[in-house]
Amino acid sequence: MRFDIITVLPELLESPFSHSILKRAREKNLLEVYCHNLRDYASGKHRQVDDYQFGGGAGMVMKVEPLAACIEQLCSERKYDEIIYTTPDGQTLNQSACNRLSMLENVLIICGHYKGIDERIRNQYVTLEISIGDYVLSGGELAAAIIVDAVGRLLPGVLNDETSALFDSFQDDLLAPPVYTRPAEWQGQKVPDILLSGNDKLIAEWRHEQSLERTRTRRPDLYEKYIKGHGE
Ligand code: ADE
Repeated sequence: MRFDIITVLPELLESPFSHSILKRAREKNLLEVYCHNLRDYASGKHRQVDDYQFGGGAGMVMKVEPLAACIEQLCSERKYDEIIYTTPDGQTLNQSACNRLSMLENVLIICGHYKGIDERIRNQYVTLEISIGDYVLSGGELAAAIIVDAVGRLLPGVLNDETSALFDSFQDDLLAPPVYTRPAEWQGQKVPDILLSGNDKLIAEWRHEQSLERTRTRRPDLYEKYIKGHGE
């Protein structure tokens, strides 16, 4: 899968894809990530990418021309399955959206800044608007990094144990159960006996019950959805 990211701060996106799981995914060519500096598509001495907003008001708006030039150039090189704009007024990212995106081949992400991008770019090119939560970031780069991370780890072959993504929180609308590693006892806290029992069936049942309980107490909204879907 390939991500192209349009940004005014390419340096901000150097680190997130250069470590651990995503680094290995890129080395194995399962994941490609390319950042494009919007300023390279801006004209004039100052290579200006933003301007005052019509109608007045505080905050700058990202200009149409550099964005259009960059998007047109990238779209002439390949067909994108989605052109995403990261914005607090987009649909909130969740696991099922990540699952769907992980099945695509080419995705372009536009990172917003300042007051956002000129509405006409949204109308003309953007196919999907994604928010990573109900709070405002100083720019879309961290949101783009989160999208690439959450989607990239789902690509077949990226995780060592391919089944492990299947047991993530949210994959079945439930939160993940608690996990433990050695030592079996620490400061008086014992690992539940069942996990030491070696009985895979009972362990699976215990994990499912824990998932249910955790979801019920922490995310009643997800729990309702799960119960409706599964009739438990
Ligand atoms: N840009 C600024 N805030 C954002 C958010 N919450 N999600 C996605 N992009 C953003």
